[in-house]
Amino acid sequence: MTKILTVKQIKALDEYTIQHEPIASIELMERACRAFTTWFTERFHALNKVGIVCGTGNNGGDGLGIARQLKAWGYPVKVWVVRGNMKESDDFKENFKRLAGYVVDLVNISSEADKGLFVECDVLIDAIFGSGLSRKPEGIYAQVIQCFNQATATKIAVDIPSGLMADQKSEEPIARVTYTLTFQLPKLAFLLPQSQQYIGEWTVLDIGLSKKFIKEVDTTNYLLTQKDIKRLIKPRSKFDHKGTFGHALLISGSFGKMGAAILSAKAALRSGVGLLTTHVPQCGYSIMQSSVPEAMAQVDDDDNRFTAYSNLESYNALGIGPGIGTHETSVKAFISVLKSFAKPVVIDADGLNILSAHSNKYEVVPPGSILTPHVKEFKRLVGEWSDDFERLEKQKELALQLRSVVLVKGAHSTVATPEGKLYFNGTGNPGMATGGTGDVLTGILTALLAQGYTAEDAARIGVYVHGFAGDLAASDKGMISLIASDLIEYLPAAFKLLSR
Ligand code: ACO
Repeated sequence: MTKILTVKQIKALDEYTIQHEPIASIELMERACRAFTTWFTERFHALNKVGIVCGTGNNGGDGLGIARQLKAWGYPVKVWVVRGNMKESDDFKENFKRLAGYVVDLVNISSEADKGLFVECDVLIDAIFGSGLSRKPEGIYAQVIQCFNQATATKIAVDIPSGLMADQKSEEPIARVTYTLTFQLPKLAFLLPQSQQYIGEWTVLDIGLSKKFIKEVDTTNYLLTQKDIKRLIKPRSKFDHKGTFGHALLISGSFGKMGAAILSAKAALRSGVGLLTTHVPQCGYSIMQSSVPEAMAQVDDDDNRFTAYSNLESYNALGIGPGIGTHETSVKAFISVLKSFAKPVVIDADGLNILSAHSNKYEVVPPGSILTPHVKEFKRLVGEWSDDFERLEKQKELALQLRSVVLVKGAHSTVATPEGKLYFNGTGNPGMATGGTGDVLTGILTALLAQGYTAEDAARIGVYVHGFAGDLAASDKGMISLIASDLIEYLPAAFKLLSR
């Protein structure tokens, strides 16, 4: 798993590498600059006029090193050094000296920044503040960041856009860039929707920081990788039979919303469940039987909606919510089924809406379950938040209270566990922002729970494979035309590529 470190840990990682590799900090900085310029020279032609805006800390030191290296590559380079109240770091001073041997145009900005400051540049590199930023940029720093944002050049941030805090709430002004080239590990802020407007497309550059430190450091935040998912998915053996892979029950659909039931049922079957029973209102019986012949159909007493259920003994997992509506008879049946089912449950869509309105929500969810709200549903569950970092805290809090996994859907869907861990997903694309994709996820997760995966593992596998199927579908069909059924079509390929 890719660990997401705190700013303190990033600093400690730098220092550990310097001591234990060992390597002089100026040489480590040189390596970081080389990684940056390698990326840069592969994409930008030497005729581009490059401007580099530096602070006087280590991020500024990186900027000066990049200026020297790009000059050596033949780029026309101009450097601006912002001289406010930040002290000069030793490595900044050393790189300043080293730059003196090169004919580079260098301008100090200390009192006032002119609006048209960077107008002559085709490409602008932001090296004012890195992850060492500890407070909102003010005075001359704020002015320069505003000028930087007004410039029309292609913009690239070294490590993190200036003004953006890596692991806590930030305040404007913040540099807005097209690309962010970060060192060794992604920063937590990159995975949050609120940062998207600043960071553009981000890339991690390996600068050889200590693998041992990264392996041993204790962290709670992770970015899921394909390797992790491959390790989690259990291989099948010769003597396995359908009983081995569990019996799932899906309670979904109502009059006019049988599509949700069909999508979740098909997705569950494509996710390896041994047996599937669907509970549907009478109006949905023939629809389900003819659309999903592999699923058994249990029929409600009611023509149009979920109002009652029968024996739950034989099921290993339950998925409930897609398309069930919030009619009072369905609400009663929903609460009652949760109270009588002691095994893990996936709760989605209307299930979450019912839960939000229920006074005893912490008592009715069986521990070890998975809740899958999108952002609006999550707000209904826990109230508003002012910042995405606060949202993450609320997510962890709810997971702890429910002793269940809370999976908030979106770009970089996030899985929070009762133990306080956060897993960020890296698969998926904007083509998946279309009706029914959530129902597909419910089906996948319910099938994984029925197969005996823990809620934490089911959520990690489920969210990754769901996005992966979406990526495979988008690479064939494009994003605009993508529909939820496409995800089901591509689930076999996704599971195949992720299985050992
Ligand atoms: N206004 C003014 N000053 C501020 C503000 C603000 N809003 N916010 C923070 N500062 C100050 C801090 O107080 C700090 O000064 P101090 O050291 O006197 O306390 C300074 O700005 C921040 O400087 P750095 O710690 O140098 O952090 P910076 O953000 O410039 O760079 C980093 C961070 C991690 C080095 C990053 O750019 C990076 O990853 N570089 C590549 C790796 C690298 O070069 N490593 C070798 C460096 S050596 C080493 O880090 C030990």
